[in-house]
Amino acid sequence: MNNLMRRAQNVQLWRKYCVKQYTTEAASASLSRGKPNYDEFIGGRQVQAQRSIVVQVSSEKSYSELYNYCSRFGSIVGAHHYCVRHDDDLHYILLEYSTVNEAAAAIDSGAANGDLSGVPVRSPFLWFKAAPGRRGPKLAANTNNNNNSQLPLSDLLSVDGTRQLDQASLLSQLRCAASIEQQVQLLHEHTQLNDLGVRMRFLAALQVQQAISGMFPAAQAHPFGSSVNGFGRMGCDLDLILRFDGETGVRKESDGEPPSRLIYHTKENLSNGRSQTQRHMECFGDMLHLFLPGVCHVRRILQARVPIIKYHHEHLNLEVDLSMSNLSGFYMSELLYMFGQIDQRVRPLTFSIRRWAQACGLTNPSPGRWISNFSLTCLVMYFLQQLRQPILPTIGALVKAAEAKDVRVTEDGINCTFGRDLERVGFQSRNTSSLSELLLQFFEFYSQFDFHNRAISLNEGRQLAKPDHSAMYIVNPLEQLLNVSKNVSLEECERLRIEVRNAAWILESEVENSTLQESERQDESWGLLNLFKHPEKAVIRPNMFFKPRMVEVSDLFEEKQHQQQQQSTTGLSSDGGATASPPVAYKNVSVRQQVQSIKAATRTELKQLRESSSAAAAPSSSPNSKNRRSR
Ligand code: GTP
Ligand code: MG
Repeated sequence: MNNLMRRAQNVQLWRKYCVKQYTTEAASASLSRGKPNYDEFIGGRQVQAQRSIVVQVSSEKSYSELYNYCSRFGSIVGAHHYCVRHDDDLHYILLEYSTVNEAAAAIDSGAANGDLSGVPVRSPFLWFKAAPGRRGPKLAANTNNNNNSQLPLSDLLSVDGTRQLDQASLLSQLRCAASIEQQVQLLHEHTQLNDLGVRMRFLAALQVQQAISGMFPAAQAHPFGSSVNGFGRMGCDLDLILRFDGETGVRKESDGEPPSRLIYHTKENLSNGRSQTQRHMECFGDMLHLFLPGVCHVRRILQARVPIIKYHHEHLNLEVDLSMSNLSGFYMSELLYMFGQIDQRVRPLTFSIRRWAQACGLTNPSPGRWISNFSLTCLVMYFLQQLRQPILPTIGALVKAAEAKDVRVTEDGINCTFGRDLERVGFQSRNTSSLSELLLQFFEFYSQFDFHNRAISLNEGRQLAKPDHSAMYIVNPLEQLLNVSKNVSLEECERLRIEVRNAAWILESEVENSTLQESERQDESWGLLNLFKHPEKAVIRPNMFFKPRMVEVSDLFEEKQHQQQQQSTTGLSSDGGATASPPVAYKNVSVRQQVQSIKAATRTELKQLRESSSAAAAPSSSPNSKNRRSR
């Protein structure tokens, strides 16, 4: 009973503080101030999605005909073209109207596809059918009778707007940069999620919300995670949370009106919260699968700590993870968004570190025993908090700056209250380090970090004694009894330590070599490129630890090519023994990762054994020694 009462109280609190409706006014207010806060950013994008439609066309050349046709519903203020590549390229144009009603009028004018037997569904995803008598004269140049038309568009704002820079072009851009600093900036610029990517993600959310709005008028689908927190790259997945408790009564109160006396009759949930959520999700999974245009490959992952439905959206070329519980992830995204806003070095730095981790296989898009992008981002944030001159405030400092309007408590009673007004938080960093210095310091910091005994707290901005035996412990900032990196295995944690050491070594020599002539820089890999060029540049290589003799210091400096040459000419491994059987090609990525993890852990143990036995005999080759460079 107590539980029930507490839950009811939490629901009340949650309704009072967590359900926000966003208006066009809020969106335009945010634009006028330049640097929107999270609520304004999310609200602005949600309204923008409501003003938008996506129309499949035969190519970008259909644009002027589409513009002329669609202008009859209102004034079009922007248009973006993108392609979804399958066997053929599918072309789409996203049109943005000046008002929500105009977009609604365009959607309402839609007709059912008579050629298909499916149930017609109203959604912002449409198809521009060829005009009757296709080969006849085109529509008049401009059939726009709408006097409010603001923008006779002469061109599309983007053509093929979601195409990602291919690896070769990206590397060549980085090669031509003037400094590592500029490489970090360029990487961020060229790989971050662009405006069209964000628009598409908010349209995917709106589609789900609108599909169920008849039965659930208060339902809201909120994007969160890297799609909105400022750390997303082109092609990142969309994390979506669907809530049904949008509470109109609260708004009426705040508008000065008394709460309604007409209460919806409601079916009471009798089973416990989790199994209820699972049942609901099963049901929504079916609905998405059966009816929503564009939604395909629906998978239900209902046993996870936070149950999710995964699906692919074929008109947006987007992977979506839909959850219905645990709003704390949404507020966590707000915290990360704020961290990105506080200092302009935070996002480019995090992008480089995420890219490095991806290049050396520390992260993997599927969940497993390796570090997630989210945990890695927490490591970066903590590093920036604990500097002698911090670049980020602690979360505790944000909590202290909270006002009444910042109170947020989730339905499950998780307190997500922290100051949202950065001016009020009043944090000013005196740190003047460049991005390349910070990157090197990051790797050096985690090379030394005692993951074995210490936990990381972003709330306090300091290390704590580790409360359990997890290999890596990052206190969950919003649920402080939980560990964000609980999934990370000992092997993966060791691998991270090896890789940060390697990265520090490589980067240190790169910083020293940054005086290369411009022509030399363009010809060879340098700076960040060498960090991403794994494993050729690694100073600690796995095969070092499989030798049946002690590691010689000289081994640390030998060229890998030399080794390979030796192996290919003699058929022997570099220690003179017979070459091991050819490497097994694992088809399953996660099996391969696990085998690699086990091997890495064994190597680490061997290395530690060797180091402890050689320490007494020879002076140690310090990792800071200049000689250790791989060049
Ligand atoms: P990518 O999807 O890899 O680009 O990164 P992401 O930041 O979107 O990570 P992910 O999809 O794994 O998680 C989505 C969001 O959920 C994160 O950005 C966090 O805001 C939140 N999140 C993930 N794990 C946790 C957790 O353990 N605790 C809390 N409070 N939030 C989490
Ligand atoms: Mg994500």
